[in-house]
Amino acid sequence: MKKCIVIGATSGIGRELSRLYVSKGYMTGITGRRENLLRELGSENPASYKIKSFDISKPDTNFRNLEELSSELGGLDLIIINSGTGNGNDELKFEIEKDTVLTNVLGSTEIAGWAFNYFRKQGYGQIAIVTSIAGMRGGRFAPAYSASKAYLINYAEGLRQKAKKLKLNVSVTDIRPGFVDTAMAKSDNKFWVATPKKAAEQIYSALIRKKKIAYITRRWIIIAYILKLLPKWIFDKI
Ligand SMILES: NC(=O)c1ccc[n+]([C@@H]2O[C@H](COP(=O)([O-])OP(=O)(O)OC[C@H]3O[C@@H](n4cnc5c(N)ncnc54)[C@H](OP(=O)(O)O)[C@@H]3O)[C@@H](O)[C@H]2O)c1
Repeated sequence: MKKCIVIGATSGIGRELSRLYVSKGYMTGITGRRENLLRELGSENPASYKIKSFDISKPDTNFRNLEELSSELGGLDLIIINSGTGNGNDELKFEIEKDTVLTNVLGSTEIAGWAFNYFRKQGYGQIAIVTSIAGMRGGRFAPAYSASKAYLINYAEGLRQKAKKLKLNVSVTDIRPGFVDTAMAKSDNKFWVATPKKAAEQIYSALIRKKKIAYITRRWIIIAYILKLLPKWIFDKI
């Protein structure tokens, strides 16, 4: 039986991904701070879920939690680093920026590093990091959010290069959602909004194919190209 961990499984994309992996026969480790929601999800199929509630923004605690969870699962084939936070921050309140950086940057780095070394030792494995289209350019609405996702995009690329150079059978996928209908999608100008279920299905399909980068939904690749090509002077006016 294959085993996976979904970091940030209490709601939205992570919850749907967990349900999907369980339906595909995976023993699935689910995490997040809201333990009641993990228990609720776990109760849908108690034999297929292992639960571990922890806050990824607390430095140096992720290693221990992941060691415990992976040994409860009896191994690990895939980890999806999906937890994320971010808020509009017009006044640049430091607490908001700090929370975003601690969660999206520090916490995710600790988890990705742990996973890479776990899979390096094991000889194979798969890492997926949920970044965002918002990480492709800077953003004035939530500067730390865009910057933290840019960091993760680069981090994923770095890990992918490292795996290749070391000739490891470890794949790293950068999952870049556009808008998905969850609590995180706070913009007033949303479009092409996917359901969490559809997002999960497309992520699953991208991971089966071990894609390097997956736009969710697929048509967000068009926006990605526009963002890449858009001259700075036009982008700054948007
Ligand atoms: N929805 C969109 O339009 C969109 C677009 C681009 C990218 N994304 C990315 O997709 C990912 C999933 O978000 P979502 O849209 O599904 O929103 P969501 O329903 O709010 O899910 C966010 C998940 O992250 C977890 N999380 C947040 N802070 C955490 C912390 N400190 N420690 C542990 N877990 C934490 C939450 O669990 P707890 O609160 O229980 O801890 C929850 O499970 C995020 O990385 C987000 O940036 C979403």
